[in-house]
Amino acid sequence: MFACMFFLLFPFSLVNSAKDTRDDFLQCLHSQNSNSISSFINTPNNSSYSSLLQNYTQNLRVKATKTLEPLVIIKPKKAFHIQTTIICSKKHGVQIRIRSGGHDYEGLSYVSPLPFVVLDLIDLRNITVDLANKSAWVQAGASLGEVYYRIAEKSSKLAFPAGVGLTVGVGGHFSGGGEGMMMRKYGIAADNIIDAKIINAEGKILDRESMGEDLFWAIRGGGGNTFGVVAAWKINLVDVPPVVTVFNVTRTLEQNATNLVHRWQYLVDKFPEDLALRIFVRRVNSSQDGNTTIQAAFTSLFLGRVDRLLPIVQEHFPELGLTKKDCIEMSWINSTLYFAGIPNGASLDVLLKRDPQGRIFFKGKSDYVQEPIPKNALENIWKRLYKMDAKMAELQFTILGGKMNEISEFSIPFPHRAGNLFQIHYALLWHEESIKEINWHMKWIRELYDFMAPYVSNHPRTAYVNYRDLDLGTNNINGNSTYQEACIWGFKYFKVNNFNRLIQVKATVDRDNFFRNEQSIPYLDHYAG
Ligand SMILES: Cc1cc2nc3c(=O)[nH]c(=O)nc-3n(C[C@H](O)[C@H](O)[C@H](O)COP(=O)(O)OP(=O)(O)OC[C@H]3O[C@@H](n4cnc5c(N)ncnc54)[C@H](O)[C@@H]3O)c2cc1C
Ligand SMILES: *[C@@H]1O[C@H](CO)[C@@H](O)[C@H](O)[C@H]1NC(C)=O
Ligand SMILES: *[C@@H]1O[C@H](CO)[C@@H](O)[C@H](O)[C@H]1NC(C)=O
Ligand SMILES: *[C@@H]1O[C@H](CO)[C@@H](O)[C@H](O)[C@H]1NC(C)=O
Ligand SMILES: *[C@@H]1O[C@H](CO)[C@@H](O)[C@H](O)[C@H]1NC(C)=O
Ligand SMILES: *[C@@H]1O[C@H](CO)[C@@H](O)[C@H](O)[C@H]1NC(C)=O
Ligand SMILES: *[C@@H]1O[C@H](CO)[C@@H](O)[C@H](O)[C@H]1NC(C)=O
Ligand SMILES: *[C@@H]1O[C@H](CO)[C@@H](O)[C@H](O)[C@H]1NC(C)=O
Ligand SMILES: *[C@@H]1O[C@H](CO)[C@@H](O)[C@H](O)[C@H]1NC(C)=O
Ligand SMILES: *[C@@H]1O[C@H](CO)[C@@H](O)[C@H](O)[C@H]1NC(C)=O
Ligand SMILES: *[C@@H]1O[C@H](CO)[C@@H](O)[C@H](O)[C@H]1NC(C)=O
Ligand SMILES: *[C@@H]1O[C@H](CO)[C@@H](O)[C@H](O)[C@H]1NC(C)=O
Repeated sequence: MFACMFFLLFPFSLVNSAKDTRDDFLQCLHSQNSNSISSFINTPNNSSYSSLLQNYTQNLRVKATKTLEPLVIIKPKKAFHIQTTIICSKKHGVQIRIRSGGHDYEGLSYVSPLPFVVLDLIDLRNITVDLANKSAWVQAGASLGEVYYRIAEKSSKLAFPAGVGLTVGVGGHFSGGGEGMMMRKYGIAADNIIDAKIINAEGKILDRESMGEDLFWAIRGGGGNTFGVVAAWKINLVDVPPVVTVFNVTRTLEQNATNLVHRWQYLVDKFPEDLALRIFVRRVNSSQDGNTTIQAAFTSLFLGRVDRLLPIVQEHFPELGLTKKDCIEMSWINSTLYFAGIPNGASLDVLLKRDPQGRIFFKGKSDYVQEPIPKNALENIWKRLYKMDAKMAELQFTILGGKMNEISEFSIPFPHRAGNLFQIHYALLWHEESIKEINWHMKWIRELYDFMAPYVSNHPRTAYVNYRDLDLGTNNINGNSTYQEACIWGFKYFKVNNFNRLIQVKATVDRDNFFRNEQSIPYLDHYAG
């Protein structure tokens, strides 16, 4: 009875206070911007509002449980709009959710349990490439595809080591690290950031010099929506040869996939830094007899020509049976399309597309592996993939090593360096929308994660913050989590020393804990200087 009354009354009171808060907030924005806010605000009265919200929701699972909608969607055209949004949000007790590419696995850039505005940086995406200095300024709303395109437009010998998903935003991606096909040669994206413009909780614009090295350290991997709004990054471009080689060789269980995957785990120290070879494992129908089987796709980027690649693979991994005709030579920029699964021959313009992708239910998790996983455990993973309803599960094994081992784990907040062989990304996608289906799928992936415990890193069991996973723990809604609560997920993402340093930086730069979400670094009083 009580629960029922609560259910009836709650929405009305929420609607009323939400309207007042929105009006106050907009009033404040008007006064700060001499009334010229119509070009960058979207309220529920604008038809753009619902269209934007629809486009945002790439992971339908996120909306299945949380229902608050943003009071206003702000699309700043210049830094001043961000500054005034921060000032007015703070004044009226409204939360900010910063959105760049909108790919957060848990939707934290567009949902919140407290009244909030979305700060959508989509219109801040200029990219200025400086060839002479081998660097570029990239505004936070740019996508990886746009970054790759703008570099390649100027030079076929320069590139940037970031992720494979072309519509991923640099605002979130670099804030959480940024792993990609060139990690073994150049480290992750955040390792290659040399300056930044950030707008802090007071609404001040800071660059590397004025923010200081502690804050500059923290924003390169400490996770988004914690220290301020990153408006732009300055990145260091890296050299690539004019011709690179790619392949994507698939093997089913009948073609020895288990042995191949097992053997692959021993190659991390054998391969040169120019070679990355990752594996995607999924359940497929065998083309021979239509029976279900497990398929491992060995997907590779080599920074060189095929004649140099073949002897390396033949020496260290002859079991794969790689032949010259499996390999394709292409420009580095074309390889970015290849890894995104875009058909050969497509125009490079697809790199600039940011259309919303297929709306689907999704859950992801991650692990880092430090000892090769025994064959019988691999076979047990395959058995789980056979479970009737786990039709669209995919495991991605990403090789580490090379340059990743040479960079200190304290260099930036991203700590997954020497000692790790590879990363596992668990992904489960589905279309069925009932709560029963959602629960079933969540149970499946959580059970797989539990099953993996003996085979992956422990104390702490580490995870990648860009594959955000709220199962690992969350801040409380009031934003006053204790150290003991936050370190449960914090140690997993950053390990002990980096987490402690992130706590210290947070205490110095955001005393009101204004920038926060379910997994932002908490503000803890006694750490403030
Ligand atoms: C299809 C797909 C492919 C992917 N491929 C890769 C890959 O190859 N390698 C890899 O490492 N990861 C990959 N990811 C994960 C991706 O790196 C993270 O989801 C990343 O955080 C997304 O950034 P975003 O800007 O697109 O997302 P958003 O949802 O906009 O942002 C993510 C988080 O950062 C915050 N944030 C966003 N912009 C800013 C800003 N300007 N200032 C401060 N905080 C900000 C947000 O509030 C949110 O908490 C992929 C994800 C998807 C969905
Ligand atoms: C939203 O509507 C207001 C008036 O209600 C208008 O001034 C503003 O330009 C609209 N915003 C957009 C982005 O169309
Ligand atoms: C939306 O429109 C209604 C009716 O015209 C108006 O009362 C309300 O103030 C508007 N809200 C905003 C946020 O503009
Ligand atoms: C939403 O996506 C559709 C399809 O790409 C696009 O046409 C539309 O303009 C988008 N809406 C907004 C408000 O950006
Ligand atoms: C982006 O670049 C264009 C052209 O150089 C410039 O006119 C515009 O002001 C820039 N926008 C921002 C937000 O910096
Ligand atoms: C680029 O390099 C040149 C020459 O090395 C230097 O004079 C200039 O200041 C640099 N510009 C920037 C923006 O760093
Ligand atoms: C399968 O792999 C194992 C170990 O790598 C190897 O000994 C065996 O010959 C392979 N079998 C086939 C059929 O390729
Ligand atoms: C595999 O086969 C089953 C049964 O024949 C079919 O329902 C399913 O769609 C097929 N899956 C794929 C990926 O082809
Ligand atoms: C499918 O696999 C089963 C055993 O796993 C086998 O008996 C059957 O012959 C296979 N089907 C076909 C069409 O080959
Ligand atoms: C590799 O091949 C598999 C199986 O055909 C396919 O699903 C996957 O998209 C391919 N990957 C790339 C990068 O081409
Ligand atoms: C890259 O792709 C474009 C468009 O498909 C094609 O015309 C061009 O020949 C390719 N170049 C290289 C070097 O791979
Ligand atoms: C957090 O704040 C809430 C509300 O003010 C309070 O009830 C709760 O005890 C606080 N928790 C901690 C750990 O301080």
